[in-house]
Formats: sequence, C-alpha cells, structure tokens
Amino acid sequence: MAQAQLDQKKVEEFLGKAIQDVAATFHAGLVLIGDKLGLYRALADGGPQTPAELAKRTGTRERYVREWLSSQAAGGYVTYDPATGRFTLPAEQAFLLLDADLPGAFLLGVGSVRDEPRITDAFRTGAGVGWHEHDTGVFEGCERFFRPGYAMNLVSQWIPALEGVKAKLEAGGRVADVGCGHGSSTIIMAQAFPRSTVTGFDYHRGSIEWARQTADKAGVGDRTTFDVASAKDYPGTGYDLVTFFDCLHDMGDPVGAARHVRQSLAPNGVWMLVEPFANDRLEDNLNPVGRLYYSASTLLCTPASLSQEVGLALGAQAGEKRLRDVLTEAGFSRIRRVAQTPANMVLEARI
Ligand SMILES: C[S@@+](CC[C@H](N)C(=O)[O-])C[C@H]1O[C@@H](n2cnc3c(N)ncnc32)[C@H](O)[C@@H]1O
Repeated sequence: MAQAQLDQKKVEEFLGKAIQDVAATFHAGLVLIGDKLGLYRALADGGPQTPAELAKRTGTRERYVREWLSSQAAGGYVTYDPATGRFTLPAEQAFLLLDADLPGAFLLGVGSVRDEPRITDAFRTGAGVGWHEHDTGVFEGCERFFRPGYAMNLVSQWIPALEGVKAKLEAGGRVADVGCGHGSSTIIMAQAFPRSTVTGFDYHRGSIEWARQTADKAGVGDRTTFDVASAKDYPGTGYDLVTFFDCLHDMGDPVGAARHVRQSLAPNGVWMLVEPFANDRLEDNLNPVGRLYYSASTLLCTPASLSQEVGLALGAQAGEKRLRDVLTEAGFSRIRRVAQTPANMVLEARI
C-alpha cells in the first residue's frame, strides 16, 4: 500500500503502542533480574538510592545496576530525582512487586515465550504441547501468578460464598483440589481449615513433588496429601468439596473430568470451579486482561488441552456460558456464579 494512502496519525499511534510492547518484552527480563537479585526489595527497604548505593547493598555491579535503574525509571517502575541522582521505588509499585509478587506473572510470561518455537511448529502440525513439557519457569510462574489472588479471596470470599461449605470444612470435611499444580490453593485451604483433610491431585509429577515439599515447609504436611492423578481418574469418593483452580480449560476432556467430579462428590457435595475471568463474547474480552489470557492461552492452555484425549481446547477465555455447557453435559444441574475478580470467575456446581 502506498504510504500516501495511510493515515499517518494512526501509523504513529500504532507504532507507539508497538514500541511499548517491544520495550515490555525486554523489560520482562529486567523484572526477573530485579526479583532474583533483590533489587526491588533493597529499594523498598533502603529508600532513595544511587546506582552505587543499590549495587553495594545488593552485592552487584554499579554499571549494570545503573542501566537497569534507568530502564526502570523510563518504564515508570521507579522514579528518578535528577537533583540527587537517586532512584525511588514508590509505595504502590513496592506493594505490587513485592507483596503481590508481580514478578511471578513475568516469570510465567518469559517461561511461556521460551517455548515459542515448539508452539510455532504446533500451529503447522496441529499437535498439542503438554503442560508438563514446558520450561520450569512456567510452573513456578503460574503458581506465583495465581497465588496472591487465591490468598486474598479463597478463604475470605469464595468458600463463604458456597452454600454450607465453610461450616463443613470448619467441622472437618474432605476436599479434593484437582489440577493443583504447585499446591498453593491446597495449602491455603489446609491452613484455614485444620480439621479438614485436603488432597491435591495433578497429572504432572514434578508439580506434585514441589507441592509436597511446600506443604511440609508451610507446616501442613500432616493434613495434606498430594498424588499424581488425572482429573478423570483421581481416587476417592465422598468429597464435601472438589476444587479446580484455573485448570479445567487446560484439560483435553473437561466433560469427562466433570463427570468424574460428579461421581466423586458426597451427597450435597459441591464443586467449586475457578476459571480465568472472561465474558462470553470475544468482542467483550478485547481488553488488557483478555489480551493477557488469550496470549497465555495461545502459548500454554490451548496446546495443553490439544495434547490430551478429546482435545476440546476451551481456551482460557471460555466464558461462563461455555463452562455451563460443559458442566450441564456432565450432569450438574445447579450452577451459579458466586464470585468474580478481574482475574477469576468462581462457579458453584451441584448435582
Ligand atoms: C494453569 S495450571 C494451574 C495450577 C494450579 N491449580 C494453580 O492455580 O496454580 C494447570 C494445571 O492443570 C494440570 N492439568 C492439566 N491437565 C490435567 C489433567 N488432565 N488432569 C490433572 N491435572 C491436569 C497441569 O499439570 C497444571 O498443573
């Protein structure tokens, strides 16, 4: 297309947006560096610092730290005072980077992008790429990406929103946490309900081993069990609560998994399904959260589902209607949305 036909303003606008995206791609690596070397922590603890002061405090080299700080300042992660040559991590950034563990989300992104050549190939062949086949950053990043939301909402909002479940767990109930990954949700529930037993299941052996160690460190090894099992064949029946956190859409056969949940529940048992937040229509998901999830879904969730039997590939933005169809097909008749956050939607399903 001849340049004269282009709307120059729109070209510039899109270029500006693309430059931000390219910068953000590089920036992801810098966030991992800041996280691993404790640069954000040292800035939060030590207040305004020059590159030399921050380097001294963290045992790193001033020249590298200066470049890193300059980039952080250009990106709005820190502020720069030309009068003193010092850089500051504002309280709000410190909260999100340190308390809310935002670098975990970057780790998930970087780990996913590392596997891009395999996904590119899969576009051509149609083959799946299993969750277990990914870079280890994906497993740790996934845990760190979702855990703050679970820590904030699971015990205080989501479980109380389920009919009758909190009282049962307080008295001592049985919980199966399916597709538990590194077990952050399993451990949070075990900590909150010491009279209950919580079993985490995941088909990925590496994640289960990690979860066991984390539960021991958290002091809940005695009331948690972690076993390698798929969502369609995990053992046990009579569960008061079965939970799936951000994993149903990763499965090849969500309807088969839902049928297995159904037969594993106690009479009056509840299935709590936590999925990424999404509206039903694509056009209503064209926003930053939708972009994040569709991108992760292209690199992780869709290939994961396609690697398993049936290969339904719901995608990470399935939306409530599509999820209800899956649950209804499996024989759940009472389904209601009990909570939502910008990241998650929570459904309660009963037979
Ligand atoms: C996005 S991760 C979520 C992990 C964890 N629930 C969390 O929220 O941090 C999806 C998890 O589903 C697991 N998974 C995928 N397919 C599965 C299947 N068919 N049966 C059991 N687990 C499965 C993966 O191994 C992975 O741990």
